Amino acid sequence: MEAKILHGKVVAEAVMEGLKARIEKCIDNGIRPGLVVVIVGEDPASQVYVTNKARACELVGIYSETLRLPAETTQKELNELIDQLNIDDRFHGILVQMPLPKHLNEIEIIERISPQKDVDGFHPMSVGRLVQGQSAFLPCTPAGVMEMLAYYNIETKGKHVVIIGRSNIVGKPMLNLMYQKSEHANATVTICHTGTQNMEEHTLRADILIVAAGVPEMIKAGMVKEDAIVIDVGVNRVDDETKKRGYRLVGDVAYDEVKERCSAITPVPGGVGLMTIAMLMKNTVQAAEDHIILKNNGKE
Ligand code: GUN
Repeated sequence: MEAKILHGKVVAEAVMEGLKARIEKCIDNGIRPGLVVVIVGEDPASQVYVTNKARACELVGIYSETLRLPAETTQKELNELIDQLNIDDRFHGILVQMPLPKHLNEIEIIERISPQKDVDGFHPMSVGRLVQGQSAFLPCTPAGVMEMLAYYNIETKGKHVVIIGRSNIVGKPMLNLMYQKSEHANATVTICHTGTQNMEEHTLRADILIVAAGVPEMIKAGMVKEDAIVIDVGVNRVDDETKKRGYRLVGDVAYDEVKERCSAITPVPGGVGLMTIAMLMKNTVQAAEDHIILKNNGKE
């Protein structure tokens, strides 16, 4: 049987639609949710991402500004900018697009962002709260995966989830979400990475396989258990002369062959990628709501 295709667009639109009433309520309280996106340098993929983020803000009614800084920006300049944005009341969320140019210290920047404005969920305060099972800003891509699984009623409780990749942006937070004792998690989790031996021994035992390795089409049909659910977080540009722009996007999963074996799969593009931005919008609205509650001294 052909796999069910899990479309990110449908779920992302449902999330965005759900935010509109919450944004109206913020505006009634005198606050329009605001997001500032900072990008340093010219990385072409990052440029596309930040443009899409600004477009989503406009679509849903969030105020946004994109600050484009030259690649030569110094750590001191960036630190000072973050300090200003932390106290700028127009912005409830601050996002610094990663990766930063090599001479800049990402950790230092992440730690400088006010935890109240950490809509990426990268600050150690957010990470710690997530690990401890407290409410926290959740990193957007893994939160998007959770949202998709919930939307399509895919049971995770007691299932064996195998994650490939241990990045701070996807793999680690995905792990931390999946083992939580909460309604849409409660899974048994294995995390594989470049140090893993016999990768397919693990992947073949996955009820749900989540791939965020950044290696084009590394997961072949022979590595997937029959009827597994396959979530492909990879977005890779591969050269393709037949395309006008000279490349095409492929995931970390060999889609055409794996879809013949699994029971459900996310396509690339059109899968998880669209969720990331929707969850960023959600975190920004959450940050604005938290700000309103704080402003009203805890009275809703
Ligand atoms: N680069 C790739 N994904 C992300 C993300 O979710 N947030 C930021 N800030 N940078 C990224």
